Amino acid sequence: MSLLRTKPIIEHPASELHRCLSALDLTLLGIGAIIGAGIFVLTGVAAATKAGPAIVFSYVLAGFACAFAALAYAELSAAIGGCGSAYGYAYAGLGELIAWIIGWDLVLEYGLSTPTVAIGWSGYVANGLAAAGVTLSGALLHAPGDGGMVNLPALLIILLLAVFLSIGVQVSARFNATMVFVKLLAITVFIVVASRHIEPAYWHPFMPNGWSGVTAGAAYIFFAYIGFDAVSTAAEESINPKRDLPIGILASLGVCTAIYVVVSALLTGVVSYQSLNVSSPVADVLLRLGYHWASGFIAAGAIAGLTTVMLVLFYGLTRIFLAMARDGLLPPLFAQVHPRTRTPLKVILVTGVFMAFVAGFVPLEQVTKLVNFGTLAAFVLVCFGVIMLRYTHPDLPRPFRTPFSPLVPTLGIIFCAYLMASLPAVTWLGFAVWLAIGLVFYFGYSRKHSLLATVPLSSPGSADACHVSE
Ligand code: ALA
Repeated sequence: MSLLRTKPIIEHPASELHRCLSALDLTLLGIGAIIGAGIFVLTGVAAATKAGPAIVFSYVLAGFACAFAALAYAELSAAIGGCGSAYGYAYAGLGELIAWIIGWDLVLEYGLSTPTVAIGWSGYVANGLAAAGVTLSGALLHAPGDGGMVNLPALLIILLLAVFLSIGVQVSARFNATMVFVKLLAITVFIVVASRHIEPAYWHPFMPNGWSGVTAGAAYIFFAYIGFDAVSTAAEESINPKRDLPIGILASLGVCTAIYVVVSALLTGVVSYQSLNVSSPVADVLLRLGYHWASGFIAAGAIAGLTTVMLVLFYGLTRIFLAMARDGLLPPLFAQVHPRTRTPLKVILVTGVFMAFVAGFVPLEQVTKLVNFGTLAAFVLVCFGVIMLRYTHPDLPRPFRTPFSPLVPTLGIIFCAYLMASLPAVTWLGFAVWLAIGLVFYFGYSRKHSLLATVPLSSPGSADACHVSE
């Protein structure tokens, strides 16, 4: 056991989770969360309107930012643990206010990306149903501000995933593994088919909008990488977190980066990049090459892929809520784990209903950049946390160490800040508004109810140290 003198030990017998996830489960959770709307929906738009064939460089650039951040996550998740991910690491090393800001930031990342992906999922499902002869009315496929009444499939899928997550993490992990298999198979089919139709002429001009196109593309498709960080929220459900969390985080990111580079190179190598400005580029390209069966299979893979992204991000959101509630920063109702299912049932219900409502009734097309910004901000703070903790707690046992620290985490900060700077001013403004709401909540509620503030350090059940790893 290792101790940090920043946070009280509070025993949480009513909020203990079930340790049942292996390194493979964690890697599949990561792949489940990462590959989704980014590659199946956004890549085409990014190639057509921003980077051109150099979208490959955009993926490499964003991949570097994520790799540096992933190394930082691997170090902190193995050393500090806890289901709160970056929130918990910040609490241990940077103090409660910064921890709150990161936690609030993660709520934005997971809480908005899940309904956003649900809307993309709804589009794919509606197309699939239409191909099978079942046409849903437009009123049931769009939010009121978007020309409809309700996005019913988006609303229903979130409620369905809430049921899965409530039953137990093992069931969810098995469901996730099956869906990940389907989406990887679909991507393999695309790679095999498309690689037989490469026309190098399509890669000229390679960088039609120069380096600024590449960076704008990277800041946009960064969404495709979101999710590897969610692996760290499984720390308390992992059988051997110190060994397996770094494996899960780094392996899932490595596999997905390789897939993204290959798929984006193929997309722009088999058709003209200008023609990729569509919402389902991967399926569309195969259709244009005449592979109808493969295109249908890709659509099924995309549906499976988007489902796992929602599942894992939704899962991550509930664990972050749980961690923040255990520390008293959110109402205690969120700190309870159901004794039979060993899942945080109330958090799942409340966040599920809220996200289902957002997915069904709020038009969300423009929030991708806001989610990217929030995630990049969290990555910056996690990299900073590694540097800080190396100075403030040099003796903390670190089962995994970020190599070449502080160089690597500093590069993480620089790369992520660079991508943040490539996002428009309106995104910065949106994030500032979200942060302001969070600070009002913190000073109005959380600070007064924080266990650090309310539990005397000498009282039974508390101590002047934080139980940071098992
Ligand atoms: N990385 C996830 C996706 O692309 C959020 O859908």
